[in-house]
Amino acid sequence: MAEIDVTYDKDKARAFTQTMLGIMNGGALSLMMSIGHKTGLFDAMDGAEPASSTDIAEQSGLSERYVREWLSAMACGGVINYNSTTDQFQLPAEHAGLLTRRSGPLNLTVPMQQIGLLAEVEADIVEAFQSGGGVPYDKFPRFQALMSETSGNRFDRTLIDQIVPLLGINDQLTSGIDMADVGCGSGKALGILGSAYPNSRFVGFDVSEGGIAAARENSAGLDNVTFELCDAAQLDASDRFHVVTTFDAIHDQAHPMAVLEGVNRMLRSGGTYLCVEPKASSLLEENMQDPMAPFMYTVSTMHCMTVSLAYGGEGLGTAWGHQTATEYLTAAGFADIEITGVRDDRSNNYFLSKKP
Ligand SMILES: C[S@@+](CC[C@H](N)C(=O)[O-])C[C@H]1O[C@@H](n2cnc3c(N)ncnc32)[C@H](O)[C@@H]1O
Repeated sequence: MAEIDVTYDKDKARAFTQTMLGIMNGGALSLMMSIGHKTGLFDAMDGAEPASSTDIAEQSGLSERYVREWLSAMACGGVINYNSTTDQFQLPAEHAGLLTRRSGPLNLTVPMQQIGLLAEVEADIVEAFQSGGGVPYDKFPRFQALMSETSGNRFDRTLIDQIVPLLGINDQLTSGIDMADVGCGSGKALGILGSAYPNSRFVGFDVSEGGIAAARENSAGLDNVTFELCDAAQLDASDRFHVVTTFDAIHDQAHPMAVLEGVNRMLRSGGTYLCVEPKASSLLEENMQDPMAPFMYTVSTMHCMTVSLAYGGEGLGTAWGHQTATEYLTAAGFADIEITGVRDDRSNNYFLSKKP
């Protein structure tokens, strides 16, 4: 029988204490940084001279007492500089590029809002750990708006300049083709494509009433963009579209294979499917070095996996990985699968495939 190692390494314990404190402070700062985004404080401080909490509060139209406490947290967290002689605060230029609206998809305070969103369902998740099942979409009332902000920033930067060239469909879109986006959420991608390519026709599908309502509102005035409320596991169109996309919309499905088969059916022969999914391996050991892996598995447990399980689904999870995704795509009938990516979206794999 192997002996139990009873040695106690004090240095290891001290190092882990520091790690734990870092985690606790990181969690707290995430919430405060999300507040800094929502209140516009980071944007107000972007490029500004050092200023007092009173000036910053006044310029932002916010309560000074709250702003001062927030600035203190930011200063202690190393996010904002503090000069104790002048009692002034300044956002360093090197930090502003990751914290302000002008940074688009690089603005980390946007995905950071997920920490607060996930915290709202903590009690339901604990309950699911004990009794199984999952937490359904209606427990995440702010999800569509946050998703729209997160992916909207990315689509603004990548869709026309990077994704359309990747698909090689600029000429086809210009002449006029039929394109669908399944799990379209609030329809940001199709809104952008619809106004750029007026001769093409775009249809978005989603099961979320709130998502489809927001999508219709966002694309009001675009005659070539329509949205259908439906369960993507029951897509019944056949040979209708030249191109189909899914952005981050397969891994959290209850029945991902049924969706992929439906996507395959709705494509014309020779049509292209772009499946965008989180960049991950199906093997935990290959994700361990990914700096975003703890965040990814947390979002998976508290959103992507649980919403799938809530509807009796497979619960693939955010990190289902490129190996499993390739198996699913192949089993659904896709051929010539190429895994690629675009410059301004480092967190996703782009699976390009054809319907034979
Ligand atoms: C992670 S979000 C991605 C939304 C959008 N593609 C984007 O990138 O912003 C996944 C989307 O899939 C939708 N969805 C989940 N299950 C679905 C189903 N069975 N049928 C249709 N849509 C579904 C959700 O409502 C949600 O809008």
